[in-house]
Amino acid sequence: MKPKIIIFEDPSEISKYAVEQIESELNKKPNLAIGLPTGKTVIPVYNELVRVYKDKKLNFSKTKIFDLDEYIGLSPEQKDSFEYFLNKNLFKRGKIPEKNLHFLKGSAINITRECEEYEEKIKKAGGIDLMFLGIGVNGHIAFNEPGSPFDSRTREVILTYQTKASNFGKIFSLFKSPKRALTIGIGTILESKKIILIATGNHKAKAVKEMLESPASTKCPASALQNHDDVTILLDKKAAALLKKKS
Ligand code: GLP
Repeated sequence: MKPKIIIFEDPSEISKYAVEQIESELNKKPNLAIGLPTGKTVIPVYNELVRVYKDKKLNFSKTKIFDLDEYIGLSPEQKDSFEYFLNKNLFKRGKIPEKNLHFLKGSAINITRECEEYEEKIKKAGGIDLMFLGIGVNGHIAFNEPGSPFDSRTREVILTYQTKASNFGKIFSLFKSPKRALTIGIGTILESKKIILIATGNHKAKAVKEMLESPASTKCPASALQNHDDVTILLDKKAAALLKKKS
């Protein structure tokens, strides 16, 4: 089945829609396993989630939450780490119990074991029910950079210059930013029952077009989603600007 594409006139509607999806899945299954990304795109979604969580007293006591990736060498106390980002923007504000949170540890001494154990944790949770994704300007999902096999699992990866420049700025990324990361694999992502990808802004338009309108290829990791049968893509008009077929 082709991904369902929803283009929003007002970007704030994206957050409302995304949070409604979480609420509705949570109502069906209180022990839902959710995968959550980092990035500027999802900050408004997390703000809305915290608002609705407090307003409606959503019950996350049984929910299992998995982050998708992390820089190697960064500890959770470091501001650039994804664990820090998720704690700051969502978990601490939402008072979600710590036992329900799972993070890939970029400071792990044994990286291979860390990745294997993360896959095990996801399996033990019964797989991811609802996977949220952003997309990188080069089409990456989580930290699966172009060239990542569609059956890849949780592993160590080398970050591209483009990704480092987007996340840290051009100058900083040349010298100081982390060069490697841990990420769940594309294979891991494709095993999720339901996937929602969010993209906003002109800078994402090219990657969005390639994800949806080019034949699926490892050149654009997000194009792997064409092979999944429950994918919804939430776009603002800017991110959808280059699409031929708007639906
Ligand atoms: C980061 C993360 C991805 C995220 C993407 C987009 O590198 N690894 O999980 O979806 O890049 O980030 P942003 O929303 O800041 O553009």
